Amino acid sequence: MMATNPQIKDVQFSEKGLKEFNHLLTRYDSKRSALLPVLHLAQGEFGALTDDVIHYVARLIELSPAQVLEVVTFYHMFHRKPVGEHHLQFCATLSCWMAGSHQLLKSTCSRLGIREGETTSDGKFTVTRVQCLGSCGSAPVVQVNETYYENLTPEKLNRLINSCKEGEPKIP
Ligand code: FES
Repeated sequence: MMATNPQIKDVQFSEKGLKEFNHLLTRYDSKRSALLPVLHLAQGEFGALTDDVIHYVARLIELSPAQVLEVVTFYHMFHRKPVGEHHLQFCATLSCWMAGSHQLLKSTCSRLGIREGETTSDGKFTVTRVQCLGSCGSAPVVQVNETYYENLTPEKLNRLINSCKEGEPKIP
């Protein structure tokens, strides 16, 4: 089916993506119940949940684009713009903020030569600020892609960024 808004470009899952989508639907009572896993799938396939992708997902699961957008903007794991290979998400809520997350975020941006929300020109790093990651007892916390790194110090963070540059995030 064609997109009706002329600003919106038609996108489509690959054959593999479509297969996964159909498989996901078999695990839920209704199409709309599958929204979160379908958004994960779409983000993996398209790199970000842009307006084009949101309209596509909305058509697939029979919701309005506004309903899908509401969910996308609620969860920090969804991205509206493509992110770098290593997405550093600094928690900026109270416990982390009091434990110095703001300084860690600032020094990371300055080390990588980007501003908050930007991606390095080599596409390796994106730095963003997020709300509570639910690990307040281990503040300050940064999430790199799907993994949390807790009780961060400037020194640990340096080692983490070095390991990302070498290809595999870890705190050696
Ligand atoms: Fe940072 Fe909760 S305040 S994890």
